[in-house]
Amino acid sequence: MASENAAEVLKAWETSSQYWNKHQELIEKMFAPLTRALIEEAQIVAAQSVLDIGGGAGEPSLTIAGVVGLSGHVTFTDPTAGMVKAAGEESERRGLKNIEFHQAAAEKLPFANNAFDVVVGRLSAMFFADVSGALREILRVVRPGGRLALLVWADQELNPFFSVITEVLNKFVESQPEGEDAPTAFRFARSGKLTKLLEEAGAVSVKERALKFDTEAPIDISQFWEFRTEMSDSFRKKLATLAPDEVNAARDAVLKAVAVYFEGGDMSFPSQVLIISGRKAVAAK
Ligand SMILES: C[S@@+](CC[C@H](N)C(=O)[O-])C[C@H]1O[C@@H](n2cnc3c(N)ncnc32)[C@H](O)[C@@H]1O
Repeated sequence: MASENAAEVLKAWETSSQYWNKHQELIEKMFAPLTRALIEEAQIVAAQSVLDIGGGAGEPSLTIAGVVGLSGHVTFTDPTAGMVKAAGEESERRGLKNIEFHQAAAEKLPFANNAFDVVVGRLSAMFFADVSGALREILRVVRPGGRLALLVWADQELNPFFSVITEVLNKFVESQPEGEDAPTAFRFARSGKLTKLLEEAGAVSVKERALKFDTEAPIDISQFWEFRTEMSDSFRKKLATLAPDEVNAARDAVLKAVAVYFEGGDMSFPSQVLIISGRKAVAAK
């Protein structure tokens, strides 16, 4: 990815960080099944040292801190200053003592070789500026025999939390289709794509599994528009091009289209992700 693109991706996440901070509690609830699945896939247990790549507003780091306990340690990383601040403040509120925070991108991790038992990344690998370089860097810092697990979105059509709104907004705002390698949420949706890159980077025992889950949270449809559009930089950018009456029409159309996913003050969208995991070879340096 050209460096201007990489800078744009980081700028977009910097803008988003205030909203991910604002909605931290909801995001944690919605994606809790993903954190559980990552912990299971990476076989994280007490006393381990775990590195989180692109930890956003704090997950999965904050939950993993509870799993590894005080005899273990979590190292949170994210290249976006606002995310690092939000996650650090949430950790302080919770009084966590076994976690540290670094502003760092996956491509350049400020850690020694073989420093961690496990490396995880929840919904972050799609945004890496140099995916192969980042995967090699992750393998450098995990110990020989150590595990890594990266979680990414599966096909957009399997994720109405994205697709329904995208389809409606595309009727209001003309948009070009993104290239297959554009740093968007669905960059690694094609089965085998990230798996192959991880193998090429040198990981062993690489496997991929699809996980179906429900994106659930206790929010009413009346709160959905603000929450969902604030979460997404691309939705916010599209809406910024519309006149106020068009924004209102887009909102009404989105709320009509998503109504089927709300009942009695609760939201539930069927969803699907891929978890790609592997190990650093025991004989690796
Ligand atoms: C969708 S958010 C996921 C955050 C969190 N892991 C979660 O699941 O809630 C994507 C995160 O990837 C981070 N990111 C973007 N480029 C990155 C890079 N090159 N290396 C590591 N993380 C990156 C962003 O700053 C953002 O916090």
